Amino acid sequence: MLLPLPSFLLPFFLLSFTTISVTSSPSYPYGFSYHIDCGSPTNTTDLFNTTWLSDRYFTGGSTAIVSEPLRFNHPHEKTLRFFPISSGKKNCYSLPFPTLPSPSYRFFLRTFIIYDNYDGKSHPPSFDVSVRGTVVFSWRSPWPQSLARDGAYSDLIASFPSSDAAALVCFYSFATDPPVISSLEFFAIDPNSYDASSTGNSDVILVNYGRLSCGSNQWGPGFTNDTDRFGRSWQSDSDFQTRNSDKIVAISTRSDVSGTDQKPNYFPAKLYQTAVTTDEENRGVLEYELSVDAKLDYLLWLHFAEIETRVRKAGVRVFDVFVNGENSTRIDIYKQVGGFAAFTWHHTVKNLSSSMLKVKLVGVVGAPLICGIENYALVPTDPSTVPQQVIAMKAMKDSLRVPERMGWNGDPCAPTNWDAWEGVTCRMSKDKTALVISQIDLGSQGLKGFISDRISLLSDLVSLNLSSNSLVGEIPSGLGQKSLTQLDLSNNQLTGAIPDSIASSSLQLALLNGNLLEGRVPEELYSIGVHGGAIDLSGNKGLCGVPSLPPCPMFWENGRLSTPGKIAIGLSCLFVFCVVLLLVYIYIRRRRNDYDFALPHELTSLAAKRNRYQRQKSLMVLEMESQHAKGLPSHFTTQ
Ligand SMILES: *[C@@H]1O[C@H](CO)[C@@H](O)[C@H](O)[C@H]1NC(C)=O
Ligand SMILES: *[C@@H]1O[C@H](CO)[C@@H](O)[C@H](O)[C@H]1NC(C)=O
Ligand SMILES: *[C@@H]1O[C@H](CO)[C@@H](O)[C@H](O)[C@H]1NC(C)=O
Ligand SMILES: *[C@@H]1O[C@H](CO)[C@@H](O)[C@H](O)[C@H]1NC(C)=O
Ligand SMILES: *[C@@H]1O[C@H](CO)[C@@H](O)[C@H](O)[C@H]1NC(C)=O
Ligand SMILES: *[C@@H]1O[C@H](CO)[C@@H](O)[C@H](O)[C@H]1NC(C)=O
Repeated sequence: MLLPLPSFLLPFFLLSFTTISVTSSPSYPYGFSYHIDCGSPTNTTDLFNTTWLSDRYFTGGSTAIVSEPLRFNHPHEKTLRFFPISSGKKNCYSLPFPTLPSPSYRFFLRTFIIYDNYDGKSHPPSFDVSVRGTVVFSWRSPWPQSLARDGAYSDLIASFPSSDAAALVCFYSFATDPPVISSLEFFAIDPNSYDASSTGNSDVILVNYGRLSCGSNQWGPGFTNDTDRFGRSWQSDSDFQTRNSDKIVAISTRSDVSGTDQKPNYFPAKLYQTAVTTDEENRGVLEYELSVDAKLDYLLWLHFAEIETRVRKAGVRVFDVFVNGENSTRIDIYKQVGGFAAFTWHHTVKNLSSSMLKVKLVGVVGAPLICGIENYALVPTDPSTVPQQVIAMKAMKDSLRVPERMGWNGDPCAPTNWDAWEGVTCRMSKDKTALVISQIDLGSQGLKGFISDRISLLSDLVSLNLSSNSLVGEIPSGLGQKSLTQLDLSNNQLTGAIPDSIASSSLQLALLNGNLLEGRVPEELYSIGVHGGAIDLSGNKGLCGVPSLPPCPMFWENGRLSTPGKIAIGLSCLFVFCVVLLLVYIYIRRRRNDYDFALPHELTSLAAKRNRYQRQKSLMVLEMESQHAKGLPSHFTTQ
């Protein structure tokens, strides 16, 4: 099901423009960054000495080149990857995490998206981008002219649980539009940055809705040789000042500003070396306006530093900060941190009533002053699929050989405002924390693989329909989840027996007809029909054992010796062995009796005498017989 188009989350665009200066290699405190040049067959190095990796090992899709590559200065801006509808509606980049010594990962992610009529269709596509199963950027056709032509950078900050092995950045196409991406950058940042503990480190993604450096041109990694250890780039504030502002004066200093580049946010010194103020001696006004989506909450960070040498004591520059008309704080920078020192103030803005966020500084004593503004949408992360079920679905994707066009990429269920994987239905788990797979419908899809035993991990599966494919192999014994009520595996080439495990399900419908199944049908399966359900076992190779099917050959089941058969054979062997033992015993006993025949005590001596005589006599007879008859003597004959 498709929810109404989320018109929100059109992030804050940094248009691509180019100020190139000399390069200095930036160092990142967490030692790790990915720069991925989407659509490039080779690794490249740009003007800032950044190495860009070819993206071909990270994803699917196809590659293209913008229509006017010469207008772009960076190699990574000239190539792009697009995901035609033939590769499915959902496609992802999987970026493996490095091994970091921290309990969770926090990353700064920047994308560059460009259309520039690469396909000659003059139709910039509509698509969504998700991170952690949550929609973070939405692109809707028609794009503004400059955006389509020059492209745009957008960025965000997100945390990932350390259990995740890779970050998935997914693209979802609307209608048949192919999503496009030109570059992807990923910087490991401090897990506690941007007040992660109070904004809910793991539950909120900070999407950039404005990062301004006041009184300056755009700067930062990828744009100038200035460093920012998180990879943040800073935009000029001049386009965001409103007419309510008094005449604006930009000021700057070359002196050091203390308190910069420090854990956990590493705000660069350059941010505090420029500022704007007004030309009013007293009570000036500075106002900024940022467009936002009223449905979300925002995290606003304001940066200040007293960089005018004439201000040497508290009370000389005092101003109030109004956020959307609300008096939020009174600021006296010198009183807080003294001169030439960084001071930040942050604030969460809730319950917006318009699509504009206004930040107004009103002088109380002297003119207001500001160095930078950052504004992040607080996007709550959507629930994602239970990890065990993701493993199961990936195994199913491989074993069933699900075709590429079905777009089985990324999380099977998330984000919930997109369709789940084609043919898959999901629902919220009972404890409402994650998504689970409830239904798989892949009838008549030309599947040629087999059913993975990992299907047992889909503990909430209610209905499975794989009918009319060319599936081979056996029905896995993993198919015995309690939740399963409908099973249609009809018209495939499944072989072997029906596993007994199926009996643990709550099946009301079991269609196994038109396969090559054989052997005894589990009694419980047959009873589905008896209890008002539907069952069809017709057209198989050799099923047996329940009414309407032939009886199973004795001791023969599922094409092999049955357990009772084995027991029976075992028992008969044992029986024969015992009989043989008994016979031997009797025989031995008989022979012993022949020799030790005992008489009552009183008669013994008499008998002994007689016996002695008899024996002598018989010895004589024996001798005579052996001489005359050559026959074997018998003791019995002598008595
Ligand atoms: C760029 O870096 C060089 C040295 O690597 C430096 O001289 C120059 O001032 C830097 N430019 C800017 C705009 O910071
Ligand atoms: C690109 O660089 C990565 C990492 O340095 C390396 O593993 C890969 O083999 C390179 N690819 C090509 C095509 O040179
Ligand atoms: C560019 O980076 C490489 C290492 O990645 C380094 O060896 C080289 O010195 C750098 N060049 C410049 C001009 O900074
Ligand atoms: C704004 O709020 C501060 C306290 O945060 C207060 O001292 C100041 O008087 C208020 N300003 C106005 C104009 O109401
Ligand atoms: C925002 O609005 C909700 C109800 O719509 C209210 O409960 C809450 O107190 C408001 N928050 C603020 C900060 O005004
Ligand atoms: C399974 O799918 C096939 C083809 O898609 C359909 O004809 C059949 O009715 C489905 N089975 C059930 C039990 O719904």
